[in-house]
Parts: sequence; structure tokens; C-alpha cells
Amino acid sequence: MSINEQDILKALSYVDDPDLHKDIVTLGMVKDLKVDGTHISFAVELTTPACPMKDQIEHACRVAIRKMVSETAEVDIQMTARVTSMRQDNEALMPGVKNIIAVCSGKGGVGKSTVSVNLALGLARTGAKVGIMDADIYGPSIPIMLNVKGQRPKVKQEDGKQMMIPVEQHGIKILSIGFLVEDTQAVVWRGPMVSSALRQFAGDTLWGDLDYLIIDLPPGTGDVHLTMVQTMPVTGAVVVTTPQEVALADARKAASMFNMANINVPILGVVENMSWFSPPELPDNRYYLFGKDGGAQLAKELNVPVLAQLPIVESIRTGGDEGKPSVLDAHSAVAEAWETLVFNTARQVAIRNNEKQPTEVVKITTT
Ligand SMILES: Nc1ncnc2c1ncn2[C@@H]1O[C@H](COP(=O)(O)OP(=O)(O)O)[C@@H](O)[C@H]1O
Ligand SMILES: [Mg+2]
Repeated sequence: MSINEQDILKALSYVDDPDLHKDIVTLGMVKDLKVDGTHISFAVELTTPACPMKDQIEHACRVAIRKMVSETAEVDIQMTARVTSMRQDNEALMPGVKNIIAVCSGKGGVGKSTVSVNLALGLARTGAKVGIMDADIYGPSIPIMLNVKGQRPKVKQEDGKQMMIPVEQHGIKILSIGFLVEDTQAVVWRGPMVSSALRQFAGDTLWGDLDYLIIDLPPGTGDVHLTMVQTMPVTGAVVVTTPQEVALADARKAASMFNMANINVPILGVVENMSWFSPPELPDNRYYLFGKDGGAQLAKELNVPVLAQLPIVESIRTGGDEGKPSVLDAHSAVAEAWETLVFNTARQVAIRNNEKQPTEVVKITTT
């Protein structure tokens, strides 16, 4: 009996993407289907290279073909990825950037920059193209965390305009307020200067093609946040908090800004940082220094998932201070927690792009 393409597509239409709740044929994920005698080959194009269900989906495809088409056919499946985007093709600002992820918190020192850097590098390790924009005027810490302190973005003339070229390190593109000013200067920057720097980061920078651009925000809600939502269509926000009540109270306020009707940036989820401490000599003991499950509580209130719980680990701090972020060490005690953060964030972006309307840039009219 000869095998035809229609039978294969029919069989594959029983394979669902577990997150998008539709089958992979309807979702247009099956590509390059070829049948040559008893040899079947095709590619499955996932919505992110950071897809934890890659193996599961491949297995389901094989089972469906074996059961419904042929038990003996040789099946060659290539698992590929093309990151989805809610953006239009013709957008003027950063047209090659598919997803903009804002990392925010209520309080400083809860781990925004740590999460931003490790998330960016973790996504890049899965094969995604990633950039990071350090917009924290009060403490631009990305240059230290990525060991590019003192570097300056190069400038290139393009179409009569001076364009910045992001600094590159560990395979990701980086721009930081810290590249433009000395540490001691940063805090005295006035609102309009901050806003104009951020506009330059978005409008006058050659980011090229990126699957994910992570924005490390200052704590709270201020000029930078407002400029950001007025300048860029933010795909979603990641809220970082410790489990402690004072941090949660502030995180709630920061989250409520994104939820405001005229801003309307979806919250992708909550990262609970400093969830517990386990001494290296007693790795099974967990000490909840800042309280327990506060992140889960906030996530529940906001009706979003917990993206990850990150314990307090000395190597996270030293990795940041030494410019060798913890996620780069595949053997660290927190390797699994980083992987969870990366997978869950990429997953929430894919779900958001599938389910929700594009974010509109906020237009504020002054009278
Ligand atoms: N899970 C963690 N374990 C140990 N140290 C951490 C952890 N998360 C953050 N830190 C450290 O705490 C400090 C503050 O983190 P940072 O990411 O700079 O916070 P924020 O950007 O919110 O101000 C940094 O020195 C960082 O290395
Ligand atoms: Mg920071």
C-alpha cells in the first residue's frame, strides 16, 4: 500500500501542541513533508527553541504515524523552531525584534538584573537570538554581571543617522545605561535624559533580528517604565519578587501598572527569588529566610503562573559579581531552576502570542 501525504497530515492532526491546545497541522507547524516509497520526512516547527515538550511532540508524531499510516515506514522528523511574535512586519522601531520582555519589580535588590541576565543567556543557549537592554538608571548592573564594564557601543552611520551597535558577550547583544555614564553619574540623571536614552536604545540601535529582547527595568514605576510603554510594544512583563510581604506589596503595585487599562501589557508570570536557603553541607534542608510561597500567592492574585523559584545560592551572587552568570554553569545547584525559568518564560510568550491581541504603544496626549 502506498503512503500518501494526506494520510500523514491526517495522522499528525491528532498531535496537539499542549500549550496552544490546537493540533500541529492546524497550527501550521508541519513543514517540508516528503514521501519517498516507505520513507517519510518532515519538520515540526515549534514556537520556541526553548520548548520542553520537544521530545514529547516528536514521540507523539511517531506514534500517530505508526498507528494510522504505517507500522514499518521509516520516519525522519526534524524538530525546528521559529519564535512567534505579536508584532507586525512593518513596525518602524526595532522591526527585527520579535518579543520584548520587561523584567520588573517593586523593590530594588530582589534580583531583577540577576534574573534578566540568566534568562537572556539561558534563552540564547537554547538557540534563540537574544538581546538585553539595561534600563536601570539607579544601578545599571548588567555591564558587571556580563563582564563588559567600561565598554562602549560602537556607532555606525546608516541612512544619514548615527546608529548604536550593541556590545556582544556570551552570544547576546547588550546595551546599558552604564555604557553611557559613569556609575556615580547615573542616579542624578533627570527624567527627560533617561527617557531620551531609552528612546535611543529603541530607535537608534542596530539590534538586528532578535527572538527575545529582555529589558531590565529599575524598581517601581517611574519615567523609564512610562517611556518604555510609550515607545515599544512590550510583549509581556516578568515580575520578580522575594517571598517577603514588603516585597510582595511593592511588586503588586508594579504589576498593577502593567495591568492598567490604557497600558495593558500582559504579565507573563512571577519569579520568586531568594525562595529559600540550603547550606551546601545540608542540601536537603530548606530555610525560608524571607517567608514561604509569597511568589505563589502573588501569582495567584494576578492570575498568572509562577515561572520559577530560585533559592539563595552563593554562586548566583559570585557569578554576578564576576561576570560569569550562574546559568552558564550546567552543573550548578540551580541549573534546573534556571532551566525551568527559561522554558516557562518562552512558553508563556508563545501562549501570549497565540491568545492575546498585540500590545499597543501607549499614547499619552497632553493638553
Ligand atoms: N538567588 C540568589 N542567590 C544569591 N544571591 C542573589 C540571588 N539573587 C540575587 N542575588 C544577589 O543579590 C544582589 C541583588 O540582585 P540584583 O539582581 O542586582 O537585584 P535588582 O536588579 O533587583 O536590584 C546581587 O548581588 C545578586 O548577585
Ligand atoms: Mg538591577
